[in-house]
Amino acid sequence: TGHFTYDPGFVATASTKSAITYIDGDQGILLYRGYPIEQLAQHSTFLEVAYLLMNGELPTQGQLESFEHEVTHHTMMHESLKYFFRGFHYDAHPMAMLCGAVASLSAFYHDDLDINDPDQRRLSAIRMIAKMPTIAAAAYRYSIGWPFRYPRNNLEYCTRFLHMMFEVPSEPLQLSPVAAKALDLLFILHADHEQNASTSTVRLVGSTGANPYASVAAGIAALWGPAHGGANEAVLKMLAEIGDVKNVGKAVERAKDRNSGFRLMGFGHRVYKNFDPRATIIREMTHKVLADLNISDPLLDIALELEQAALKDPYFIERKLYPNVDFYSGIIYKALRIPTEMFTVMFAIARTAGWVSHWLEQHETPDAKIGRPRQVYTGAARRDYVPLAKR
Ligand code: CMC
Repeated sequence: TGHFTYDPGFVATASTKSAITYIDGDQGILLYRGYPIEQLAQHSTFLEVAYLLMNGELPTQGQLESFEHEVTHHTMMHESLKYFFRGFHYDAHPMAMLCGAVASLSAFYHDDLDINDPDQRRLSAIRMIAKMPTIAAAAYRYSIGWPFRYPRNNLEYCTRFLHMMFEVPSEPLQLSPVAAKALDLLFILHADHEQNASTSTVRLVGSTGANPYASVAAGIAALWGPAHGGANEAVLKMLAEIGDVKNVGKAVERAKDRNSGFRLMGFGHRVYKNFDPRATIIREMTHKVLADLNISDPLLDIALELEQAALKDPYFIERKLYPNVDFYSGIIYKALRIPTEMFTVMFAIARTAGWVSHWLEQHETPDAKIGRPRQVYTGAARRDYVPLAKR
């Protein structure tokens, strides 16, 4: 293979240095800027975590307030952007709309295209964290034919999002405080995860000098796949298909059969080979949210049974396959009335904090190189062109 290594899927190749997130996959450790995910989940908020990821340190009271103020004052989307949505078919997947709308932001914020100006880069990052919920809610409302809502800037991030999603004119939205808190927690858990497929994509696109909106739109496209962010949607579809706890055994057998083409969605992880610390937190949260919202969901019973059955099964034990973050997140989203098709969009809102932090870090690195993997060529050896008549 010449002077380079063949490493399909980058299992053993570090593509960059980064000071943002640390993962120890054997011990199930996840740190954002050195802080354990468990402590952030318990004490922090999503916007504080976004600040931490972007800036490297926890904010002081004053820094947090001014960051929240900035994010809050960039929540509106340009009126013209709204007309873009009308071009989509009524049953377009919201991820398709999100991907298109975010890419098109580069057509609105020309100044942000100057990626050599650090202030401008920071502003683009804040714009994306601020606008992602507005665009996401618009994608949902378009899909059900409801008029868009403006962001209510007197509310905090997650409550504001839930209002944009569900509010109808002249009817105050009855929101349980548990709902916004649960959402905030899910956003913290999903905020970053070092060089996963979507973040690597943002960095690869970013390495060419492409603008931040194009780079993040590429990340959204990568997140959409069921092996990555699409897994939370796939989990709920799978649980609904299993339909009853009595069918769990059959599902496990099918997942073990390679020829079935079926995998247990929400199981397994490229890096975590012991447990996913985010899954441990979410599992606990799921029970609490369902109890607080007074919801009993048969899908949760199926999920619990499936988890137990798989954890006992030698196939899953030998391959170190454990529930990942997305095994439970969908059940919480469902309890918050978020429709299944929006689950990956929710992941995208949270991961935006990570994507922009990596994009910023990349542009603060002197002499960063364009991402340009090599290959192992397996095609034909040199041969001469054969004229059409002689083939
Ligand atoms: N169900 C059944 N078998 C599985 C599963 C699964 N969910 N995941 C892996 N395996 C088997 C796989 O068939 C292989 O078996 P063998 O050694 O006999 O060929 C072995 O386990 C190793 O799998 P792999 O595909 O080589 O592992 P990977 O590190 O390339 O893939 C993964 C990791 C997450 C893509 C994979 O586990 C998977 O497809 N899981 C289901 C989708 C999912 O839940 N994705 C969300 C990931 S967490 C959220 C995020 O960060 O996006």
